[in-house]
Amino acid sequence: MFIDDFVRMCFDGFEQGWHERNGGNLSYRMTDKDREDAASIMKDTGRHIDLGFDATELKGEYFLVTGSGRYMRNVPLAPEKNIGIVKIADDGHSYDILWGFEDGAKPTSELPTHLMNHMARMSVTDGKCRVIYHAHPANITALTYVLPPEDKAYSRILWQSETECAVVFPEGVGVVDWMVPGSIDIGIETAKLIKKYRAVIWTFHGIFGSGADFDETFGLVHTVEKAAEIYLKARSAGIIRTITDDQLRLLGDAFGVEINKDFLD
Ligand code: 13P
Ligand code: ZN
Repeated sequence: MFIDDFVRMCFDGFEQGWHERNGGNLSYRMTDKDREDAASIMKDTGRHIDLGFDATELKGEYFLVTGSGRYMRNVPLAPEKNIGIVKIADDGHSYDILWGFEDGAKPTSELPTHLMNHMARMSVTDGKCRVIYHAHPANITALTYVLPPEDKAYSRILWQSETECAVVFPEGVGVVDWMVPGSIDIGIETAKLIKKYRAVIWTFHGIFGSGADFDETFGLVHTVEKAAEIYLKARSAGIIRTITDDQLRLLGDAFGVEINKDFLD
């Protein structure tokens, strides 16, 4: 059942140390089968909430989402209090709560970025992307204090920090310079980048990752975080050599992936 997989991912992220307090959030766009599976628990709760932006492309879509101010650590203990299902209304500007969010909870404050990212990824993946994940991994965030906020700088450093990286995210990663979180504006800027890159780093904050399923999305964020950790360790020890651009090209050929040429010298 998709709710079990969602709950597992929330706790996996907590165990990695990526979700201090209420940090981070997760959303999943449900399939027709998921709707059937959850039909017995969904009902009209009378909670209809305005979005404040246009999500017409998502009208009629159902999302399982984490609650604002709720802790990933607590999701397995009481899913109905910490997560919930929403349906985007036909006006495209509001949604209804159909399950969960008990005790006055409501969807994550990052719902604008989640939904804008869903719209962006849906359009470039032909509807395959279903998961958007926001986490606060320490090494990714630390990296934002030592690099200029440029997609090329981050992509190259991460590719060079672990051989698998260029295969896992050959398009690179995007970076949004510091903005107020939870805003519609940060959603707009993030969604612009997530059309090009499956992962977008938020300066001094964390990361958004996307994918077709929970494994792919968690694995992507995990890979970026591991590479950031390796880079920072190597940098503090003193970097004397790294993966070359020719080696990155060889990787692309060997694994049949198109490594973003704009970021190769
Ligand atoms: P929420 O508790 O509203 O999901 O916010 C957590 C967070 O990480 C904000 O960026
Ligand atoms: Zn955050």
